[in-house]
Amino acid sequence: MVDLLIKNANLPDGQNGVDIACQGGKIVAIEAGITVQAGQVIDAAGHLVSPPFVDPHFHMDATLSLGRPRMNVSGTLLEGIALWGELKPLQSVDEIIERALRYCDIAVSMGIGAIRSHVDVCDDELKGVTALLEVREQIKDYIDLQLVAFPQDGVFRDPTAMGNTLRALDMGVDIVGGIPHFERTMSAGAQSVTALCEIAAERGLMVDMHCDESDDPHSRHVETLAYETTRLGLQGRVAGSHLTSMHSMDNYYVSKLIPLMAEAELNVIPNPPINIMLQGRHDTYPKRRGLTRVRELRDAGMCVGFGQDCMMDPWYSLGRADMLDVALMGLHVGQLSSRADMTWCFDTVTKNSAKIMGLQDYGIAKSCDANFVILQAKDPIEAIRLRATRLTVVRKGKVIAQTPPSVTQIDLPNRPQSVDPSEN
Ligand code: FE2
Repeated sequence: MVDLLIKNANLPDGQNGVDIACQGGKIVAIEAGITVQAGQVIDAAGHLVSPPFVDPHFHMDATLSLGRPRMNVSGTLLEGIALWGELKPLQSVDEIIERALRYCDIAVSMGIGAIRSHVDVCDDELKGVTALLEVREQIKDYIDLQLVAFPQDGVFRDPTAMGNTLRALDMGVDIVGGIPHFERTMSAGAQSVTALCEIAAERGLMVDMHCDESDDPHSRHVETLAYETTRLGLQGRVAGSHLTSMHSMDNYYVSKLIPLMAEAELNVIPNPPINIMLQGRHDTYPKRRGLTRVRELRDAGMCVGFGQDCMMDPWYSLGRADMLDVALMGLHVGQLSSRADMTWCFDTVTKNSAKIMGLQDYGIAKSCDANFVILQAKDPIEAIRLRATRLTVVRKGKVIAQTPPSVTQIDLPNRPQSVDPSEN
């Protein structure tokens, strides 16, 4: 007798038609034709059963604030930062909690099981930190929420940001963030990387910096991030988010840089929808894409996870917590169109991002947590193509969200009346 048995599942690794038995919130068996009694049986009917989607880069303190106090007219990153600065003094802790929890409802329905959210510490009241620590606790049975202390206005450029960063970490924020390209000078940016990595090393924490989110090919703070990671023995625990300037860098310099990043075992978090939307705004034609060198970083051995970054906030008016949208955008902008590359894009929003976040017991394997999404698709490529419906979302062996399948009903002679669009 087990709690839950999922029948006839296709798995992302290519296994088809297997059953998954779950007991006590864990996967206890995966094989074809399991006959054990179960408290609940779900027939996956040959659909893809994936581990939950993982969003490794988000701003939950800003989400769903679109239009407050006004819209971003230019559409640029810098107007977004200015607009966010106008909103911060207007919002309360309760408002941030309410918006974040509303976002969590959407995220759960879309099969997201873990989120790394940056939280702005450039607010002397630390309202965002207070709010998201509360949300992290409230939502823990549904979403693994990691928080990054993010000095949005620059840890040196804003006179109280360093103190606030330390206070946020003392309050329980998990990860050290930064924004070196927004400091006043290149040297201040580099010094901020050093100072923040030293704080992480002293406290035994991970690092995740907004790094070189710019079209400026001379924005090379990732070089310092790799150096400090290696110097301080932080290999594998440091992520560079965005890294968009690498798109515009000189190829010869990049040929030196990427091996240094690989040596530091840097994790890489591009945010394709936001990068393609915000970067290249100063260009006429040709317009740069503003996505970092995804293929080259992957091929050098680095772990790449695609993040969503924004949804309905000062930087981005769209989004729907759909990590398959994120994968699709990364696939297109990165021209990752081979079968192997497209399947890998699915990994960027599942297991790669789980690895970057250091999630324990993640995956469809015996002894892992019984956390799944049943998608209305047969395999990862089809899931991306269709941005497949999340039929059932399971957390620790319990169903926490369901969405009806897409079904077309056209009454024509000699044709079935009901067609699953994923059957082609
Ligand atoms: Fe971000």
